[in-house]
Amino acid sequence: MSRPETSAPPEVFYSDVESKKYTSSSRIQHIQASMTLRALDLLSLPPHQHILDIGCGSGLSGEILSQEGDHIWAGMDISPSMLGVALDRDTQGDLFLADMGSGIPFRAGTFDAAISISAIQWLCNADSAGADPKRRLARFFDTLYASLRRGGKVACQFYPRDQAQTDSILQAAKTAGFSGGLVVDDEQSKKNKKFYLILTAGVTTASDINLQGVKIDRPRTQSTRRISRKDESRKDYIARKKETMRKRGKLVALDSAFSGRKRRPKF
Ligand SMILES: C[S@@+](CC[C@H](N)C(=O)[O-])C[C@H]1O[C@@H](n2cnc3c(N)ncnc32)[C@H](O)[C@@H]1O
Repeated sequence: MSRPETSAPPEVFYSDVESKKYTSSSRIQHIQASMTLRALDLLSLPPHQHILDIGCGSGLSGEILSQEGDHIWAGMDISPSMLGVALDRDTQGDLFLADMGSGIPFRAGTFDAAISISAIQWLCNADSAGADPKRRLARFFDTLYASLRRGGKVACQFYPRDQAQTDSILQAAKTAGFSGGLVVDDEQSKKNKKFYLILTAGVTTASDINLQGVKIDRPRTQSTRRISRKDESRKDYIARKKETMRKRGKLVALDSAFSGRKRRPKF
């Protein structure tokens, strides 16, 4: 069976029809929920964290963030159709139409943690002329690092095509300054083998994240971090950011992309 990543760019592959099919499949709902739970288990987060869900799709991963630990989340995805389904399902997160390969469009230190379930392998494909996977991976991890508070944690479950893709993802994460490594569940099973990239924006200690099974570790080398403004709450910041991006036309907040559908600001 061909991989979705090689069939079409994500915003084309996840069309209206495919997004609805994906979201209504009880098999997919079950798999995505259990992988999100595993990602949260690996991160060992306290409740009520501000979390970014990268490649949030229709909200199957995000809704676990709301249910487990009552986290406050923002989701970004490149597919308007997936986000449209998320809106229809009235998910709890604030939703952003954005390409992770162009960078995480949030101010430094915005999030306590980030998760990504079944999405970052898309960055390994050049799905448009001139797209350079290496550069997109670098931009993704560099800006993800910046968007996290110091010590912020990341769990990305992903489906690498081969070892070369895993290596390029790990390399980009390391170069951005993350420490952490790879957890492989069900390593011997061809069908159920799962890869989780577990990272910390800073030096990882054993008590920080559940590192059982982690294969590599590396101390952080990047030392420059921008200091976030103290006079603005994250809630206010995200609302302002949405407004600015909407005005610039860089990013379409879904309130305007899907006119007629109401969205409450949750942050
Ligand atoms: C298999 S779905 C997973 C969705 C959700 N995380 C879940 O668990 O159900 C992968 C998602 O990654 C998104 N995606 C792929 N490439 C992306 C990119 N460059 N930027 C943002 N989202 C992307 C796709 O649009 C799709 O919604």
